[in-house]
Amino acid sequence: MHIGTSITQYIIEEERRYSDATGDFTSLLNDIVIACKVISNAVNHGRLAGVLGSADTENVQGETQKKLDVISNELFLECNEWTGHLAAMASEEMEEVYQLPEQYPRGRYLLVFDPLDGSSNIDVNISVGTIFSILRCPQGTTDPTEADFLQPGTQQVCAGYALYGSATMMVLTTGHGVNGFTLDQSIGEFTLTHPGMEIPADTREFAINMSNMRFWEPPMKRYIEECLVGRDGPRGVDFNMRWVASMVADVHRILCRGGIFMYPMDAKIEAKGQGGKLRLLYEANPMSFIVEQAGGLSSTGRRRILEVQPEALHQRIPVILGSRHEVGRVVDYHTEAAETA
Ligand code: AHG
Ligand code: MN
Ligand code: MN
Repeated sequence: MHIGTSITQYIIEEERRYSDATGDFTSLLNDIVIACKVISNAVNHGRLAGVLGSADTENVQGETQKKLDVISNELFLECNEWTGHLAAMASEEMEEVYQLPEQYPRGRYLLVFDPLDGSSNIDVNISVGTIFSILRCPQGTTDPTEADFLQPGTQQVCAGYALYGSATMMVLTTGHGVNGFTLDQSIGEFTLTHPGMEIPADTREFAINMSNMRFWEPPMKRYIEECLVGRDGPRGVDFNMRWVASMVADVHRILCRGGIFMYPMDAKIEAKGQGGKLRLLYEANPMSFIVEQAGGLSSTGRRRILEVQPEALHQRIPVILGSRHEVGRVVDYHTEAAETA
C-alpha cells in the first residue's frame, strides 16, 4: 500500500532547500496545520457541538461575530502562542496586534490570519476556510507593533488556506509553486493530493457578487456586461457564473479549474469610507501570493496587490484575481478608462 507524501514530510523537505534552516519554520507550519485540524473538527461538528449562530459581539470591522469566528480565533492563538517561533500575531477578529503571553519565548516570525473566512456560510453548512500569511519579524524587534506587520505582500515567507468543504484541504505556497493536501480523517494527516497546482490562463467562468452591479465603477460594469451578453457580444463566447461568498472556496475553485474572482471597489463601500471589501493583510495578500505562484494574476484593477504598501492592519482593498488573461483584460479596461477620463 502506498502512503503518499504527508504534509509534515513536504514541509521538512521544503525546509531542506535552505542550508541555514533551523527547523523553526517547519515547526511553525506544523502548529498552523494542527490549528486548522482543530478548527476543521469544530466546523464539522456544527450544531452537534453547539458552535453555530451569533456570538452577539462585534469585531473591529463592525461585523457581528459568529460563535465560530470567536472560537476559531481562540484556537489559532492557543495553538501558536506558546511555540517560540512567533514574535506576535494579528487577526481579523482582534483590533490590535496580539502580544504573546510573557511566559513564552519570542521567535522570528509574524503570523496574520483570518480564522474563519466566509462566516455568513457557517450556519447553512456551506464551505468556509482559514487564511494565513507568515512574515519575518524585523530584526532586533522583540515586541512588534502594528508598523512591523505593514509589509507588502511580496515579503510573505509563506501563505496558505485551509478549506473546510466536502473534504478538508490545506493549500500552501512558500514561493516555490502551490501544493494542495487533503485531510485523511482516518489517520488525521494531510496528504499531498494536488501537487503543483496551476491556474489555466483562460477561463469562461467569473465569480462576483452581482447584486452590487449598480454600485460598480465603469470598467467593472463593462467587463461583466460583456460576459453577460456572451456569444452575442464582443467576447463571442458564453460565460458561466459562480459565487460561494467564501473567498477561500471561490479561490480554491479557481485554482482547480480556472476562473476570475472579483470584489471590486463600489459606491456603497466608498460611502463607508473603506478602500474595498476584503482585507489586505489576511485575505488579499495571502490569496494573491498563492494565485501568482499558481501562474495567475492578482490586481486591484490599477496595480499589483502584492506591491501595495499597507498602511493599517485592517486595511481593505479591491481584489481581482485568477486566470491571467481575464485579469489582464480587466486591468486593461481600468487603464483605458483612466486614459479617456
Ligand atoms: P469573512 O467571513 O472573513 O468576513 O469574509 C467574507 C468575505 C469573503 O470571504 C467573501 O468573498 C465575501 O466576504 C462575501 O461578501 P458578500 O457577502 O458581500 O458577497
Ligand atoms: Mn474573510
Ligand atoms: Mn473571517
